[in-house]
Amino acid sequence: MDCSVLQYIGIFTSLYFIVKIVLKIIEGSRLYIFSTYPNFSKYGKWSVVTGSTDGIGKETAIQLASRGQNIVLISRSEEKLRNVANEIESKHNVQTKCLTIDFSDDEEIYNKIADFLQGLDVGTLVNNVGIAQEISCFHEHPNLSKFLRDIIRLNVISVIKMTQVVLPGMVKRKRGLVLNLSSFAAVKPVKNYAMYSATKTFVDCFAQALSYEYESKGITIQSCMPGTVLTNITKKYGEFQKMPSPETFCKSWLATIGKARWTHGYWKHAIDGWIWSQLSTDLTQTIGEARMNRAMELEKKKRN
Ligand SMILES: NC(=O)c1ccc[n+]([C@@H]2O[C@H](COP(=O)([O-])OP(=O)(O)OC[C@H]3O[C@@H](n4cnc5c(N)ncnc54)[C@H](OP(=O)(O)O)[C@@H]3O)[C@@H](O)[C@H]2O)c1
Repeated sequence: MDCSVLQYIGIFTSLYFIVKIVLKIIEGSRLYIFSTYPNFSKYGKWSVVTGSTDGIGKETAIQLASRGQNIVLISRSEEKLRNVANEIESKHNVQTKCLTIDFSDDEEIYNKIADFLQGLDVGTLVNNVGIAQEISCFHEHPNLSKFLRDIIRLNVISVIKMTQVVLPGMVKRKRGLVLNLSSFAAVKPVKNYAMYSATKTFVDCFAQALSYEYESKGITIQSCMPGTVLTNITKKYGEFQKMPSPETFCKSWLATIGKARWTHGYWKHAIDGWIWSQLSTDLTQTIGEARMNRAMELEKKKRN
C-alpha cells in the first residue's frame, strides 16, 4: 500500500515522540528507581548545610550524617540548631558543629562563616537556605522593600557567597560536591510568584554553568528543582497528602547525585516537570494560576 507524504510525516512524528518518551522513561528510571547513593566520603569528611533546622535542609543533614558525614549546621536559631545537632549525634556516629547565622544580614556574615570553616575538610556544600513569597503581584507584596532585600540575600547572595567560601578549598583538594536548591518554579516563569521564580532560575543557571566549569577540577555541582515538598514553606497551601515528606524527597534526591547536572529529585516531580516543560509558557501561566487559586481556597476552607 502506498503512503502519502502526509502519512510519512505522521509516522515519523509519532516515532519521534515515542522515542523521546521512551528515552525519558529510561533516564528517569536510571535516576529515580535504579540509582544508588554516592560514597559521600570521597568528597570529604564534612558536609555544610545552610538552613538546616527544618524541612529539606534538616532532612538532608540527617541523610548525609546517616552516610557517615560530619555535619556543619548553619541556621538562625541557636536552640533549633542544638536540637538538630543532638538528634544527629544521638542517632549517627558523626560529629556536628553549629553556627548561628541570619542569612538576611549583610555580607559580613560570610567572613564569620569562612573563619568557622577554616581547616575543615569540607567535601559537600548544600546551598539550601531560601524563602518563598506570598502569591502576589510584584508591587503589592507585603513589606515589599524588606521582602526584596531578604529574598535576594537568602535565595541568591547566600548561594554565591557560600560557594565563594568553600570552592577554593575544594579546588585545592581536587574533590567536592555542591548542591543547590533551586525549584520547580524555575522550569518556567511563574505569574504572581515572580521574585521566587526569578531567584530560583538564577540558582539553577548558576549551578549548571558551574557544573561545566568545575567538572574537570574534580568537583560535582548539581541543581535540584523540587516540586512541592511538605515543609513550612508549603504547608499553608494545603493539599498535604499529595506532597512527599522531606524524608521521602531527600532519600530519592540524594541518590541522583553524580548522575545528573540537574534533577527534580523525585520521580513524581520529574514527570510533572517534563510535562510542564513541554507546555507553552502562556498555558503554564493559566494552569499555574488556577492551581494556586485552588490551593488558597482549600487553605481558606481549612481555616474557617
Ligand atoms: N518545600 C518545597 O516545596 C520546596 C520546593 C522547591 C524548592 N524548595 C527550596 O528548598 C529550600 C528549603 O526549603 P524548605 O521548604 O525546606 O524550607 P523551610 O522548611 O522553611 O526551612 C528553611 C530553613 O532555612 C532556615 N532559614 C530561614 N530563614 C533563614 C535566615 N534568614 N537565616 C538563616 N536560616 C534561615 C530555617 O530556619 P528556621 O528553622 O529558624 O526557620 C529552616 O531551617 C529552599 O531554598 C526552598 O526554596 C522548597
